[in-house]
This record gives sequence, C-alpha cells and structure tokens, in this order.
Amino acid sequence: MEPIANPADPTIRIDSHLDGAQGRSLADDVLDGLTRPFKELPPKHFYDARGAELFDQICELPEYYPTRAERAILQESAAELAALTGAAELVELGSGTAAKTRVLLDALHEAGTLRRYVPVDVTESMVRECAQTLTEEYPGLRVHGVIGDFERHLDQVPDATGPRLVAFLGGTIGNFPPGSRRRFLREIAGLLGPDDHLLMGTDLVKDPDVLEAAYDDAQGVTAEFNRNVLRVLNRELDANFDPEDFDHIARFDPEHEWIEMRLRARREHTTHVRALDLPVRFAAGEELRTEISAKFTPERLRGDLSAAGLELVRWLTDPDELFALSLSRVADTPTAVASSNGSG
Ligand code: SAH
Ligand code: TRP
Repeated sequence: MEPIANPADPTIRIDSHLDGAQGRSLADDVLDGLTRPFKELPPKHFYDARGAELFDQICELPEYYPTRAERAILQESAAELAALTGAAELVELGSGTAAKTRVLLDALHEAGTLRRYVPVDVTESMVRECAQTLTEEYPGLRVHGVIGDFERHLDQVPDATGPRLVAFLGGTIGNFPPGSRRRFLREIAGLLGPDDHLLMGTDLVKDPDVLEAAYDDAQGVTAEFNRNVLRVLNRELDANFDPEDFDHIARFDPEHEWIEMRLRARREHTTHVRALDLPVRFAAGEELRTEISAKFTPERLRGDLSAAGLELVRWLTDPDELFALSLSRVADTPTAVASSNGSG
C-alpha cells in the first residue's frame, strides 16, 4: 500500500493498509454477525478514537488488574528479556498507546541492541502518535508503523533487520476463540526466524468475582466501552442504535474459562443499518456477544504454543499470579501430536 514517508523525518515510516478495506470488513462483520441466530460482533471494531480513549481509562481502573500486573512483570524481567533476546527490533501487535511497551523499550535501549520498533494497530491515530513520541523519547530509534488488521495484514510486517522480538501484550490473544487463537499463533510464528522470540501476555484463571469485576467496573467505563461499538455502527454504517437500549453484561463462563462481554436489549425493538439496508430485530432480553476474553493456565498456553509450532522459553508471573508473560520461540522439532491436544 501507500508508504507515507515523511521527508522531514527519515526515522519514521508509516504504512496504512486500511483505506476503505476496514469499512468493508465492518460491513461484512455486521452482515454476518447481526443476522445469525446468536448475534455476535468481532471485538476489533471497539477501537475507534473514542474506544481507544475509553480503553486507556479501563487500564487505570481499580478493578482492571491486568494492566498493572503485566507492567509489574515487565518491570521485574525486562532486563532479563533484553539479554535473552538481544532484540534489534520490537514488533508489537495491537500496540495501542504502547504505555507498557516503554518498559521493554527502555531495557532494550539500555542493552544497546534496539534499532527499530514496528507497532501494528487498527487505530490509525495511535500508530501515528506513538511513532512521533517514541522517536522523540528514544534517540536513534526508527519506527516503522503498520496501520492494519493483524488478522489480515501480518504479511505487511517488514522483513526482520536483526534478532526480532514480537510482543503481543494485554491479554489480547484471549479475544480469539480457541481454534482461531491457534491459527493466529501459527501466523505469528511465521514472523519468527531461529533467533527470534514471541513475548505474549495472558490473563490467568482466577476467582470469577475478580474476573467479572475487571470487566464490569463500578464507574461504568467498561459499559461505555462496550456500548461504543454501537456508536461505531451508527457512524460508519448509518445505523440507528440507541446505546441506552442495551445493558452491559460481563459474565465468566466456567466451562470455557473465558469472560463474555455482551449487550442485552432492554426492550423489543428493530434497528436499521441503513448502509446495508438491513433491519435487525432484537427481542427483549436478547444478547449480542461483543467479546470473549479467555483466561489461561500454564497447560492451556503450552498446548496452544505447541500447536502453533512454538516452545516456551520463560513463564513469568506477578507475585499474586494474576497474569503471565510467556517468552517463546519456534520449536526445534515439529510437534505432530500437538494439534490434536484440544485443550481450549
Ligand atoms: N497493547 C495494549 C493495548 C491492548 S487493547 C495494552 O496491552 O494495553 C487491544 C489493542 O489491539 C487496541 O489498541 C486495538 O486497537 C488493537 N486491535 C484490536 N484488534 C485488532 C486487529 N484485528 N488488528 C490490529 N489491531 C487490533
Ligand atoms: N484485551 C482486553 C481484555 O480482554 C480488552 C478488554 C478489556 C475489553 N476490557 C474490556 C474488551 C471490556 C471489551 C470490553 O482484557
């Protein structure tokens, strides 16, 4: 796609792969997801500029422990990770504001190996702002931003320029259902050569009350974030949802060990998605699933990694074992049995 080189600043390059395509993907996802017997939308559409802002607020909430726990692990182990990986470049999937990433960038910068940072995110403003501020904060660092959908545009990640560390933080891997999760991990493995590593954040199975509170905070920020997807549909597809027609639901599913985020219609009504000429009827109490957020055990993660041809190098947790960071690399030997080990 269009490389947007900034002649004033050769340290920054931003490629955008979204022009128009993202809109089509939203239309397809709405057409698919809202005409099913069980309505569902994929979570990537939460993150317009307002959604990204609300997510930043979520990260500061007292109930939302994952951000603090993951930052604590990073602070504890960044120097070790820098030494283990010797990374010359950091590729980050779903980079957002790269707030926690700075802990890693600091350590790699300190170690003197880091040359390039490659943030990949669907939210254009985030990639641009983060390229600007990080090149200012880290003299000598080049930033090659990729604005795109990591499910469709991983092949647009530029070729490695030295030992590579791919970071996938925030527990975002948990937003994939188990089968797609393994497929996606396999695609990530395709970004890794023999000297490269994947650093991934996963939220851990714990007391359901703690989990549900993290996705249903007292101030209602998460509820607003959840409803924001309806505002995205109103704006992008000329729909006429009233977000206040829906209650925010966050429920732990003990069988699958994941949190489900849903929007529940308060009354029977029909919404029109005018850009698709699509009427969508909701029964009173009908629920639309907007996200799952899978919780992990070490066994589940090992199974997923191994099914993707990856092997664990380090398993790092915070003192309360709320969250885990795993460092992995491409496995020496292909694992033939792994894919039939269906721990979800
Ligand atoms: N890494 C940050 C942000 C996590 S929120 C943290 O740990 O706090 C998830 C991020 O992934 C958001 O910035 C969102 O814009 C991005 N994202 C979600 N789905 C995406 C997709 N399909 N492709 C690219 N980015 C995506
Ligand atoms: N990846 C984050 C998670 O699963 C995203 C997230 C946090 C989220 N809180 C949310 C998504 C509330 C939707 C609604 O923890």
